[in-house]
Amino acid sequence: MNAIVKAVPASRRLPFHVPHRSSRQAAYVGHVLSSGSLRPGGAFSREAEAWLVQHTGAEQAILTHSCTGAMEMAALALGLGPGDEVIVPTFTFCATATAFERAGARIVFCDIDPATMMIDPEDLERRITRRTRAIVAVHYGGASADMEAICAIARRHGVHVIEDAAQAFGSTRGGRAPGTFSTFGAFSFHETKVVSCGQGGALIVNAGDPALLERVAMIVERGTDHARVRSGEKAFYEWTSPGSSFQPGEFEAAILMAEFEALEENLAHRRRIATWMIERLERMALPFAILRTDAATRSNFHFIAALARNEATAASLMAHLQSNGIDCRQHYVPLHLSPARGRWAMVHARYPVPNKPGGVSCGCRFTRACGRRMWNTALR
Ligand SMILES: Cc1ncc(COP(=O)(O)O)c(C=O)c1O
Repeated sequence: MNAIVKAVPASRRLPFHVPHRSSRQAAYVGHVLSSGSLRPGGAFSREAEAWLVQHTGAEQAILTHSCTGAMEMAALALGLGPGDEVIVPTFTFCATATAFERAGARIVFCDIDPATMMIDPEDLERRITRRTRAIVAVHYGGASADMEAICAIARRHGVHVIEDAAQAFGSTRGGRAPGTFSTFGAFSFHETKVVSCGQGGALIVNAGDPALLERVAMIVERGTDHARVRSGEKAFYEWTSPGSSFQPGEFEAAILMAEFEALEENLAHRRRIATWMIERLERMALPFAILRTDAATRSNFHFIAALARNEATAASLMAHLQSNGIDCRQHYVPLHLSPARGRWAMVHARYPVPNKPGGVSCGCRFTRACGRRMWNTALR
């Protein structure tokens, strides 16, 4: 495949992802520099958190250095530890599991529905035991998991739901932002995402529980009650709880604020291209299916996932795209089949089903040029 890829000149190769860059970024970064203070919690951080609350309707939003960090905060806030089980879909990025494994919880894998590549609610309910404390729902590729079914199961069993919305910033489900259906939501603003600041994330809190909100406030203050000092309740802070250093600095917050302000234009552009591309791909008799979102979801089109019948079809599709200079990626190796799987005592999930639709997915993020070239050359 390398020999074929080399045949496409570098200038004609289409990268997997081109981060959106708002024209205001440089000015905002300049403001931070001239302010003299680069540390977390400054004016841009506060503005970005307020924007997130307003935009998502969440109770609280806290900027973090990553989505992984946001999920680690959720694990700390819920006091997860040895003896607790956390249910995670097997088809996801490993951070969905490691964020909770680090707290000492046992990871229990749940199967996915090959039609959505997200949690299969029926299998989820089978995985619940008396030790289950939390379910992590992953929103894949900008789609949204079946939050109504997942939250109903969680309510029946008295367990928390955390949404790994790393890929879903800007999407909606029934008009609601992902991350707001459950106790906690986590966004990623890593360079590979629809909105990015290099490395960043946010924890969304919808707890409706003042005690949990207070725990989160202490965790983000590195395990202290510094927030009470700032509000004038106390003269000095003390070590009060578990905690760590999760916040980004002001440069990241400034870049994010510029990107938040440009979100609608960014999303409109992606949606235009994606709709155009999917319509054309679906008119062709192709040996793979394009993953579609359900009617309730308005996707940010983080990427377009093609579900091949089997590994051989996926490999030839990828070689075909690469040979036309279109970068694409094989997607996750299911976690229960990954080299690290031996770390968990319980391995339940059955995905992938060999030789059935949904056996393999390969993602393609796109630009207009990528869409055109797929249509014009790669797939006819
Ligand atoms: C589903 C999912 N969860 C978590 C993460 C981790 O995000 P971050 O790099 O911001 O920690 C990613 C990153 O790609 C992801 O796709």
